[in-house]
Amino acid sequence: ELPWAEPYKVKMVEEIYQSTREQREKWIEEEGNNLFNLASDRVFIDLLTDSGTGAMSDRQWAEIMMGDESYAGSQSYLKLREVVRNTLGFPYFLPTHQGRAAENVLFSILVKENNVVPGNSHFDTTKGHIEFRKAHAIDCTIDEAFDINNLHPFKGNIDLAKLEEVYKAHPKENIPFCMITVTCNSSGGQPVSMENIKAVKALSDRYGIPVFFDAARFAENAYFIKEREAAYADKTIKEIVKEMFAYGDGFTMSAKKDGLVNIGGLLGMRNEQLYRACGNMGIIYEGFITYGGLAGRDLAALAQGLLESTELPYLKARIDQVEYLGNKLIEYGIPIQKPIGGHAVFVDALNFLTEVPREEYPAQTLAIELYKESGVRGVEIGTLLADRDPETRQDRFPKLELLRLAIPRRTYSYKHLDYVAAALKNIFDRRKDIKSGLEIVWESEILRHFTILLKKK
Ligand code: F0G
Repeated sequence: ELPWAEPYKVKMVEEIYQSTREQREKWIEEEGNNLFNLASDRVFIDLLTDSGTGAMSDRQWAEIMMGDESYAGSQSYLKLREVVRNTLGFPYFLPTHQGRAAENVLFSILVKENNVVPGNSHFDTTKGHIEFRKAHAIDCTIDEAFDINNLHPFKGNIDLAKLEEVYKAHPKENIPFCMITVTCNSSGGQPVSMENIKAVKALSDRYGIPVFFDAARFAENAYFIKEREAAYADKTIKEIVKEMFAYGDGFTMSAKKDGLVNIGGLLGMRNEQLYRACGNMGIIYEGFITYGGLAGRDLAALAQGLLESTELPYLKARIDQVEYLGNKLIEYGIPIQKPIGGHAVFVDALNFLTEVPREEYPAQTLAIELYKESGVRGVEIGTLLADRDPETRQDRFPKLELLRLAIPRRTYSYKHLDYVAAALKNIFDRRKDIKSGLEIVWESEILRHFTILLKKK
């Protein structure tokens, strides 16, 4: 048997820049120890996010050239509508400028003060949009997700007992919907099984609660279903995607992930009335219903991207890179979330920087160390991201304190990943010498991690 290889070759390259440790120490100090503040030419390998950072294909670039920029009824919109209907299976949709815009439009219609929105570890913008409306996001993820060494194949799953408790504790009118995030970013890029999706839908139907997907990484979730759920081994990715979405009343999507575009989002639904209501809200915030904050060319590139990301050879190459980096770190003894997720490797900062107190933000401390060591930019998924409790204003310490190394799609080589692993190993070898972390100098009230300023403790 022959070895496996990527189903594409490179047609264009972009230069990236090396720097010295001295330069990086100075730069990050100046920027308040916040990696979001760094200019990109001060970063060598950028694993801040897999959102909007991937490489488009030649066919997507061709679609960019053919984009129809008509204000209403653009041909590019119609092309995207075909894909939303045929590949995702939703009759109604609105384009939005990105994922959180879809959340904003949908939640403006459905989420009211004191509502509760159960789900599996809502993403921070999702939670932000819920709490901004004085409603509550309730995390019903299975407990296995919070034990990084538990090899449960679907650590994004929703605990049905926890979900039913929520359904029993609140009147139906206070629960606008249940949100299933596929894959579950906040629990480590972990997939949700088809069995679980089906069961959540059945339970929610019994209580009359709609089910919405946060579908940013829907294709990667479908890949894991194919790999790990026996009944789906022989199904195509497109068949699995169609079935997954069949259990949803709608979805929000950041198209910057599995849409394979640099900007864009989608809001899909089955209910015509909801579509009309959201359409009005979309017009206020995003633009007319056939472009929603995007150029015609963006819609066209997205239509093509959705077709490409739901092909098995692409997904295999994608997930293999993430597994490759994860396995290297495991080989070095570095504690990471297992099984390795779909879009990123999550390093367990609490078990890495064991000497740094929880109150001094170990994951952010590790992210800063990695940048200084190598010019690699990751991101904290921990206490800073978790924001303060809206009522007590105290830091809320999440169960996991992680450094996320997100891999952009079709962008870096395996050599780049070797470099990242070697840099982390260097820090791991001297981890006991790192005894203090960071303290906050300034922070915003909500989504503080983007703009926070920190100093060395
Ligand atoms: N939902 C999930 C699961 C996400 O991961 C994101 C974004 C969003 C919604 C919001 O979408 O950025 O297009 O407005 N995640 C990025 C990340 C930012 O780095 O994980 P957006």
